[in-house]
Amino acid sequence: MNKNSNGMKTLFSGIKPTGQLHLGNYLGAIKNWVDLQKKYDCIYSVVDLHALTIDIDAATLRKNTRELAVDLLALGINPKKSILCKQSEVTGHTELDWIFNCLIPVAELERMTQYKDMCVRQPKNVNAGLLTYPALMAADILIYGAEYVPVGEDQLQHLELTRVLARKFNNKYKKYFAEIQPILSKNIRVMSLNAPNKKMSKSLGETSYIAIRDNAATITKKIKKAVADEAGVKNLLELYKIFGETTKYKKFNRDLAKKQLMNSTLKDELTKSVLKFLKPVQKKIKYYDAHPLEVEKILSDGAKKAQVLADKNLLEIKKLVGLI
Ligand code: AMP
Ligand code: TRP
Repeated sequence: MNKNSNGMKTLFSGIKPTGQLHLGNYLGAIKNWVDLQKKYDCIYSVVDLHALTIDIDAATLRKNTRELAVDLLALGINPKKSILCKQSEVTGHTELDWIFNCLIPVAELERMTQYKDMCVRQPKNVNAGLLTYPALMAADILIYGAEYVPVGEDQLQHLELTRVLARKFNNKYKKYFAEIQPILSKNIRVMSLNAPNKKMSKSLGETSYIAIRDNAATITKKIKKAVADEAGVKNLLELYKIFGETTKYKKFNRDLAKKQLMNSTLKDELTKSVLKFLKPVQKKIKYYDAHPLEVEKILSDGAKKAQVLADKNLLEIKKLVGLI
């Protein structure tokens, strides 16, 4: 099902607007999203409803959502090829979510690793949304009949639950939903600059990550201060492999093997290469930040296109369930 008129299959993915997008997010997720636009009909969503499961104030949520949409556009999500929209702007996700909530046993939701982690991370805010998070995620995907879902490894358990929900629905009503397939990014795990045995993450503080929006001085300082123990150097080299020059990368590796690698040289070269990569990206960010109405129009056009697909499927789903 849902091969569109151009014969391409539908792919869906979402990202939460919970803070600055960093190089870990780019290399582990967004770069893949950009490449997948060639092969699939992609729907990419800024999942603002999911962001409500953490304690976030209205102004911050609004700002994060707009900035994330801008960052995605600047990094290569092409609204002429793909649909880029805001989750909350397409109605129906939450309706299908409710239908799924009524199909999934609480015990299955309580088993989710992310739920258990979040209960520890925000013990004062164990809201019901944290528990039912994966049902909304399943609705995000299945409302479009998407079959392919690029995610990081941490989200595989949620995708498995999506498959379980689709099966439960198909068994109870009628075979309607296809089996979804995860698409994993090519094993890229960018480590923290300040704690290289953990993955680069907003939760480890600002010195842990390089944000797509960081200025040159900040990036220079962060890389200069990066922990350069064995794991740290390995991470810096991995980053240099991606952003730097192959010949120099090979030389750094030879130097490392001979215990002659100068960390300061590696750091200087990495800084240069990251800045070179980010220069055109930040130019686009500056443009879109200065033209917020253009960004709003891209998102609302995306939402309109997504709404047509969602409405069509939701109508059929409601009929199957007996709501219509
Ligand atoms: P999050 O920051 O957890 O909202 O992550 C958004 C996406 O970026 C997910 O698909 C993650 O798997 C991916 N991601 C986050 N941090 C990293 C990292 N350090 N290395 C690789 N991928 C990452
Ligand atoms: N839970 C995902 C994450 O934290 C974000 C997300 C929400 C998502 N809905 C989705 C990812 C649907 C893929 C498909 O990264």
